Parts: sequence; C-alpha cells; structure tokens
Amino acid sequence: MPADRHKKSSKYTIDRGMPGAFEGETVTRRAFMNVTAQTAGGLAAAAFTLPALAFALGPIFKRVPFEWQIIGTPADFTETQYDAKVLTIVDGIGEAGKALAYVRKRNPAIDNIGTQDKFNQYIALSSRCAHLGCSVRYVEAAERFVCPCHGGVYNFRGQVAGGPPVRPLDRFYTFEHDGYVYIGPRYSVNSELQRFSPRDPAEPLDGIGQYLYPSRFDTSVRPPTNNLPLPPTIPGS
Ligand code: FES
Repeated sequence: MPADRHKKSSKYTIDRGMPGAFEGETVTRRAFMNVTAQTAGGLAAAAFTLPALAFALGPIFKRVPFEWQIIGTPADFTETQYDAKVLTIVDGIGEAGKALAYVRKRNPAIDNIGTQDKFNQYIALSSRCAHLGCSVRYVEAAERFVCPCHGGVYNFRGQVAGGPPVRPLDRFYTFEHDGYVYIGPRYSVNSELQRFSPRDPAEPLDGIGQYLYPSRFDTSVRPPTNNLPLPPTIPGS
C-alpha cells in the first residue's frame, strides 16, 4: 500500500496510471487543453475590453494643454483696482471656451503670500464662483465680488466674506516678461490663499477637504515659461 500511495502522488502521468499516458509526461492532455482554451478566451476578451477601457479612461489622464496669453503691459494694472480680462481657456469652441479674470498688481500691504514668487506678482482672480460655478461680478464701490446665484460674497483678495462658497475664488498664474504681463493656467487656493491644483466648485480645500477632493489627473500643472507667445506686433514698428 505505501508503494501505491507513492505511485499516485508522482508528477508523471504514467506513474499515476492514466490511460494513454506517455513516458515523461507531467501534464494531462485534458489539463493542457483546458489551460489553452482559457488563455485563448482571455486574450479574445482582452482584445475587446482593453481598447474600450483605454478609450473611456484615456481622457482622464490627458493633461489639458494651455498657452500663456498676453493680457497687457505692467502700466495697464494698478494695486487698487481690478481690470477684467477675457481669456481663452479652450481654443476653437468660441464663447464656451472663454473665461473672465479680474487682474491687478500685487499689493505688498495686503498680499503677503508668495512675495518672491514670480508667478504671483499680479493677482488674477477667476470669475467662477467656488460654490456652484456661477459668474461673480466685482462691485468696485464695495470692493467685493458678488455672486448673483446664492448670495456668495468675496472680499478684495477673493476670500469668502459671506454666503455658501466653500473656498476663495480660484486664481490664474501670472508672469511678467519683457514688458508684458502673461496669464497662465488656473489654480485653487485654501482660505489662507495657499496654492493647490485646480479643483471644481464646491470642493473645499481646508482641513481634510484637500484629501477628500483630490485634483483630477487632467488639470494643468505649474507652467514652464519657455513657451511664451511673442508680443503683439505694433504696426509700423
Ligand atoms: S454659485 Fe455662487 S453662491 Fe452659489
């Protein structure tokens, strides 16, 4: 009996007494056919599902391209007043691809964040409300940004002064170069105006909010400055 047990546990099919076994064979033909059929089935399924998955998920990982845009010269901006500038966020789709930014020079007396940051020498606030995305309007007399939808109010620096918005107004990178002011991609800030990757409206950034609402893979990162567009040509110059 012990010898029989040893025979049954052998890795060779011939030792295990299988009908039609070959000398030195370790895998039965049935097991081999099973594995082959399952592998072929898996490959066929992958050939259908992988392209569909890549098509569905690909855009999530594709960063939205952006270009620096010239919005004026340093003389066009002051520290005390906002100037509204229209930006092209997505090219080729007309008005739907435009956004509005309120721009002023950084005022050292009140803008104490990023004083040495070359991307922060002009404050460019997005007009998109951080509650649900309506367009805010700057009321110069009150030095407030007011949202018409649910009564959101932001102070002169874009921080929430009242109503339901969950974080300050988003900002745009700005950059001064060769006598021109450029504007770049959008970023978000928390209530202390610290910079974060852009978030959607209604996504808070204070406390655990920054972890509960991580940035999307497709958002633009801080831009390189080696692709600045050429300044406009002045006729006759
Ligand atoms: S969308 Fe601005 S307060 Fe609601």
